[in-house]
Amino acid sequence: MADKSYYVTTPIYYVNDRPHIGHAYTTVLADVLARYHRLLDPTSTFFLTGTDEHGQKVQQAAEKNGLTPQQQCDQTVVRYQELWKRLGITNDDFIRTTEDRHKVIVQEVLQDLYDRDEIYRADYQGRYCVACERFFAEKDLVDGSCPECGLKTDAIQESNYFFRMSKYQDWLIEYIETHPEFIRPDFRANETLGFLKTKKLQDLCISRPKSRLAWGIELPFDKDFVTYVWFDALLNYITAIGYRRDDDKFNKWWPATHQLIGKDILTTHTVYWPTMLKAMGVPLPKTVFAHGWWLTGRTKMSKSLGNVVNPMEMVDKYGVDAFRYFLIAEMTLGQDASFTEEAFVRRYNSDLANDLGNLLSRVLSMITRYCDGKIPDYGPDENVDFSGNPEPLAHTAAVHLKLKWAVEKMEKAIQTMRLDAGIGDVLAGVRDLNKYLEQTAPWTLAKNKDQKHLSLVLYTAAEGLRICAALLYPVMPERMGKLRAALGMEDVTPQMDKLKEFNVLKPGTPIRPLDVSLFPRIEVENVEATPSSPQSKKEKRDEGVASTKNMNTEPVKPEGVITYDEVMNVKLRTAKVLQAEKVEGADKLLKLQIEVGEEKRQLVAGIALHYTPEQVVGRTIVIVANLKPAKIRGVESQGMLLCASIGDQLRLVTIDGELSASGAVVK
Ligand code: MSP
Repeated sequence: MADKSYYVTTPIYYVNDRPHIGHAYTTVLADVLARYHRLLDPTSTFFLTGTDEHGQKVQQAAEKNGLTPQQQCDQTVVRYQELWKRLGITNDDFIRTTEDRHKVIVQEVLQDLYDRDEIYRADYQGRYCVACERFFAEKDLVDGSCPECGLKTDAIQESNYFFRMSKYQDWLIEYIETHPEFIRPDFRANETLGFLKTKKLQDLCISRPKSRLAWGIELPFDKDFVTYVWFDALLNYITAIGYRRDDDKFNKWWPATHQLIGKDILTTHTVYWPTMLKAMGVPLPKTVFAHGWWLTGRTKMSKSLGNVVNPMEMVDKYGVDAFRYFLIAEMTLGQDASFTEEAFVRRYNSDLANDLGNLLSRVLSMITRYCDGKIPDYGPDENVDFSGNPEPLAHTAAVHLKLKWAVEKMEKAIQTMRLDAGIGDVLAGVRDLNKYLEQTAPWTLAKNKDQKHLSLVLYTAAEGLRICAALLYPVMPERMGKLRAALGMEDVTPQMDKLKEFNVLKPGTPIRPLDVSLFPRIEVENVEATPSSPQSKKEKRDEGVASTKNMNTEPVKPEGVITYDEVMNVKLRTAKVLQAEKVEGADKLLKLQIEVGEEKRQLVAGIALHYTPEQVVGRTIVIVANLKPAKIRGVESQGMLLCASIGDQLRLVTIDGELSASGAVVK
């Protein structure tokens, strides 16, 4: 593979499922990475997704619907294809495992492995999970059910074909240990290693007798069998890029740079897949990256619980780019994340409507009002001396540094797969630009007829927007394209090599004010009704409208003051202390077991010098319930309790009077 090539894959989705937020997430993530790399080099990126179309589930659904399995697949594959179109996914190929280009190669691989005695026939007795399409030994079941998904398994006894996976156990352990990039994040590599080091790897059953399951790729050496669906599916990553057919293409892209998966399919991708490739004599992908799960609140999403988030509904309601933004900004890659519409609206209003939308509105409005609607020219001397006063120059120098820092942080974030952090840094840049406008007060410069500094400030703010929009372009291509157009840029696609440069916008270029806001504020019902909101209704309306007329260009909030949204971000709840004990080796800490409504949690609090465990048990305390869990002295703490303190005195914040249940909202 050429050094600069970037090949990213998603799992291929079971064609029979309805796409949900988990599928949308991996695909949007791959799209953001692909778009980002394409901006760096348009010819060296390849992005593959597709559908997994064989197996028992499709056969069962087809029987139920009175269709052939192929008809069943053809009907359901469009769910994914349409969703990807809607989400602006720019995959270079879409592979379906029922296509000839895939099936033929799978058969060649099987024949080759069989000829080289990597595959043999034997009798099998064990349990099969239809949901996971996997075999398990009796001893691996958990309470008689599938150890992966918890559903019941079927007893199976039959003659089958096996891949000699077990012989690669020691090799795989060594490979993982000597290639820290192969499985990311690290703790997932440890998970696979833990399994490989404590359990004897079995050979992998790679066939199904047609008498039980006819819907699959026929074994080339035995017409009575079809191929096990996972053996077939994993090969999609190489059949799509010309394995055994087009060496140039294959060598250009393979080994893949990032194979993105969810944590539930770690074993298939870090045990089955590498051993298959080893037996075939094909190098392993550089990185298999396992992301966490999207939960509904704190609960796993599942059809039976009826809490599955439908991406189409979210997109219909809030727009594609806002949805893409939330997915990427909210999840720390590797960890689980929680999806609630409330959190979505909160993040949208604060990051997009307030910070970014407001900045854009102000810049467009002031350029229209004070600079005749053209990118301002701040004078002939391009090398303004930023080191001295007056104020605008010093602030401008600081903004330049902050923006360079944001560009570097985003580059790093892409390399380390911390996209959420990269977005956070860009948004910090946006907030700095808003602050810059407040510090330099262009409306006052205009009043004082200080055209030179006014032009410098507005030019710098517009340049800042150009840079931030480019960094966010892979996440929100449609809106950031519009933002660029509004700044008068002809080319909607940003040039990444221009991000550490300033003075790219051409003075004198007419801007194109927007008729409709890029990020209209989403009104939350109770925000309107709350008198304590520091924002008046008028201000809120103004923020949502980006037309350059009647724009509020004054500072949005004084420093040190937080907005209503920021307050609403903090979830305070009452909680009942059930148990308390000292944390070993930490004089100040108590470990509390608390009850927050229905939920039990553990919390570590620095109150041991002021309360004994007995004094706190039974009390109703107030906690910050949505604080990210953290380890304090190695003990997990899920929240923070509130106390009042002066000097060395400290008292718990408790509730005045009786509240029958814990978990009450504190407001
Ligand atoms: N067909 C197999 C993959 C074969 S790849 C050679 C499969 N398909 S799937 O449709 O069931 O799942 C596809 C992906 O969706 C998996 O990576 C899985 O982890 C992911 N998700 C399913 N539910 C999810 C969430 N709630 N959150 C995040 N991702 C989740 O497995």
